[in-house]
Amino acid sequence: MDIMVLNGDGIGPEIMDAGTKILKKLNDNFGVNINPVKYDIGARSLDQGKYKIENILEEARKYRAILKAPMGDPKLRNTGGTEIALDLILALRFDLDLYANVRPVRLLPGVSSPLIGYKSMDSINYTIIRENSEGLYSSHFGGLVLRDEVAIDNQTITRKGTERIAKFAFDLALKTEGAPKNGERSVVCTDKSNVLKSFAFFRKIFSEVSLEYKQIKPRYMYADAMAQYMILNPEELNVIVTENMFGDVLSDLGASTVGGLGFAYSANVSDSMGMFEPVHGSAPDIAGRNIANPTAMIMSTAMMLDWLGYPEYRKTIEKALFKTIEIGVKTTDMGGNASTSFFTENILNNMDQ
Ligand code: IPM
Ligand code: MN
Repeated sequence: MDIMVLNGDGIGPEIMDAGTKILKKLNDNFGVNINPVKYDIGARSLDQGKYKIENILEEARKYRAILKAPMGDPKLRNTGGTEIALDLILALRFDLDLYANVRPVRLLPGVSSPLIGYKSMDSINYTIIRENSEGLYSSHFGGLVLRDEVAIDNQTITRKGTERIAKFAFDLALKTEGAPKNGERSVVCTDKSNVLKSFAFFRKIFSEVSLEYKQIKPRYMYADAMAQYMILNPEELNVIVTENMFGDVLSDLGASTVGGLGFAYSANVSDSMGMFEPVHGSAPDIAGRNIANPTAMIMSTAMMLDWLGYPEYRKTIEKALFKTIEIGVKTTDMGGNASTSFFTENILNNMDQ
């Protein structure tokens, strides 16, 4: 099977190299048959006019899965001030209708949390389901600035969009073991329905959908309260469902509780296609130095394999990765001194065991 590989900017190519080496090892030694087709696509190549967004989308539609490295160069901006890479990232999410952004928050073995007393996956292990096809971000394609005086962005919440993301969250909860603290399977609708009508509507639809899932507890929390809860009681969380921009902000907060953005991996999926990517950015400040932590890219690759129907290879990757960290091979963000390539080599070797 061919998969589309987008190399990105900054640390993108370095960490993608780690992801594709792992795929190659699975092909060579484990009988997987996945062929990564690489595209040098990111802010730079868009800026140089090498690719047009419409053409990339057309190409992307030929694949079932896309593995995407972080994209972005803060220097490359549109006249309105937004970053050009974001036009592509958001076009991929919106135009391919990858409506569910799945963002696990998991404290991996051997990784330390800044939260006192939290030591393993048994203490922090939940998933943020970020609505990925509407919300405030849909205004990226609209929005207006008038006479350098007035700026307007609108939030879009639809019945269809809310129903499908709520269902997605409940279906996911059904497959989990529940909250680490007590095994309770729940979905927390996270919004600001106390302030905005659009969020009150989101909550109403969520509550309608919840009636179809008797085995899962529906919970409700305002987004500001959730920011606090994620720090004080993460062991009580199982699945969170939220609007696009809240999901963006809360997923970085969640990442910081499990060792940082280097551990934040994700899937953007529709019912027929998936794009898998780290939650973090292209980190231009450390690009080209072979020091980036490739874990999020590697775990995104594992998530892709699982989604493509190979959960056993996800386990193979996770086992080798966890072992690598547990024996003390750590990148600088984890307090170690392993380079990106040394860390990756260790994972490759551990896959044999
Ligand atoms: C993310 C990123 C993106 C977002 C940017 C790069 C468009 O921060 O995936 O979380 O804001 O969604
Ligand atoms: Mn983000």
